[in-house]
Amino acid sequence: MTAAEKPPLDLKLSAPRGFCAGVDRAIQIVELALKKFGAPVYVRHEIVHNRYVVDGLRAKGAVFVEELDEIPDDGQPVVFSAHGVPKSVPDSARARQMFFLDATCPLVSKVHKEAQIHFKRDREIVLIGHAGHPEVIGTMGQLPEGAVSLIETVEDAARFTPRDPANLAYITQTTLSVDDTAAIVRVLLERFPAITAPHKEDICYATTNRQEAVKRIAGLVDAMIVVGAPNSSNSQRLREVAEREGCPVSILIQRAADIDWSRLDGIRSVGVTAGASAPEILVEEVIDAFASRFDVRVELVQTAEETIAFNLPRELRLSAAE
Ligand code: F3S
Repeated sequence: MTAAEKPPLDLKLSAPRGFCAGVDRAIQIVELALKKFGAPVYVRHEIVHNRYVVDGLRAKGAVFVEELDEIPDDGQPVVFSAHGVPKSVPDSARARQMFFLDATCPLVSKVHKEAQIHFKRDREIVLIGHAGHPEVIGTMGQLPEGAVSLIETVEDAARFTPRDPANLAYITQTTLSVDDTAAIVRVLLERFPAITAPHKEDICYATTNRQEAVKRIAGLVDAMIVVGAPNSSNSQRLREVAEREGCPVSILIQRAADIDWSRLDGIRSVGVTAGASAPEILVEEVIDAFASRFDVRVELVQTAEETIAFNLPRELRLSAAE
């Protein structure tokens, strides 16, 4: 098809999108560990929720496991994923004298610390999050069983019965829908006005910024494409945000080959964004796929600048500088 024969398409590219500072740091940790200690470097759970990233690291010598007991005692490092781990994981790594590197995002570690402080102050803790997500398992696992109650929905918040309503605190998963969480918090505040809130929002800057950018675009386009993995919480939330803002078609795809073109018949505009664990190369692939079928005009829609970067673990800082 020549450019003249292709239908025109206005492509609004959302910014910020894609990698956040926590994902960037986690991937660097695995790459630097491979450089410094050689393969294999074991990684407990997908380092970040993206198949392309995981396959790339696997090709370089990373070995992904779900539990530490899958790792032999060969002295090679094990990296804990960006989502964080229950306390029992570093405890058993220490018991086995394993060398471990913790790639938990510092913004997840911040929530862990909040939970510990509330616990020390004898507060009952409510965690707003999604059951089964590794971050939720990690956060709940900072404290003894039963210390943290999980709330997933407004209905859960309306039903929740604390032991002592005057001595309650809430924390949240970092990658939730900003609007859903605000609705849940409203219910908790109405029912328990004395509840202690986080000093600074637990939903991280990257989640908030990506959702804001999608909101700006969603009402202006015929379809929204979110590049991200189905098990990536923040990517799923971006797809939902676009849908709720009234975008007629909102699709989550891992990469360009997953696009179901029949759902995009007759569109004249599309928004493109990417979850915090999706690399930019996959976004470029999607733009190229649109450009092969449409006469694409790309417009960047930027709602925030991101300059945050996190320090690497001490053991790897020298290697990073080399
Ligand atoms: Fe951290 Fe937020 Fe990314 S918690 S890993 S900066 S999505």
